[in-house]
Amino acid sequence: MPFPLAVLVSGSGSNLQSILDKIEAGSLKAEVRVVLSNKPDALGLKRAEKLDIPTRVLSHTDFASREAFDQEMVNVINTHGVRAGTGAVVLAGFMRMLTPEFLRAFPQAVLNIHPALLPSFPGTHGAADAAKYGVRLAGCTVHFVDEIMDHGPVIIQAVVPAFPGEEAQPLAARILKLEHCIYPQALSWLAQGQLSIEGRHVHVQGASPACCGSQQHPYMVSPGLEPGFLPKDA
Ligand code: GRF
Repeated sequence: MPFPLAVLVSGSGSNLQSILDKIEAGSLKAEVRVVLSNKPDALGLKRAEKLDIPTRVLSHTDFASREAFDQEMVNVINTHGVRAGTGAVVLAGFMRMLTPEFLRAFPQAVLNIHPALLPSFPGTHGAADAAKYGVRLAGCTVHFVDEIMDHGPVIIQAVVPAFPGEEAQPLAARILKLEHCIYPQALSWLAQGQLSIEGRHVHVQGASPACCGSQQHPYMVSPGLEPGFLPKDA
């Protein structure tokens, strides 16, 4: 049976689209059971509707408390067959913090993607903050969600170069392209039962140690390192 997913979006939903595309292509053995949004005009909802995937809009302003809002989200998600132990909740640009009660309903099964190399640049402007800071390597992170923003155990990260004086937008676009690769990959590992968490560390069973350099000396470096300065055994 395909692994059941509930995807939560607030915006354009390009990450949702990348997940749907990988499902369609057969490389991610999962099924998006419901797409939930706190914004009625989120483009992500339209992407789901196009494929006849059930959608639901819940506005937090209609609820007396954060807990009541999250409880209703749990109810909707459960109704669509995503429960603790069977499936996962996928935050794909969902711009709200979740309560501890919500997280307890889906232990080790809520994932998020962030447009920076955590723990650097948490918060709502990860890519722009990295560009402003002048880093040479930027990237994105898929992680399990815990009660602290952009903090839970890291599942996979991808790196892109950042160039001096570059605006935030092209960097964010470069990062987003890789988000669309690593989020479906992380979900595939989860769906196949390949992930285990030990404290802050996530073990991925059976994943190849793909990297640059040699097996003896893997590395990643920002552009410009000349051949004469490479590690000897790379
Ligand atoms: C992505 O940059 C993601 O990392 C962040 O919100 C953005 C969502 O983009 N959490 P989209 O809605 O998936 O296009």
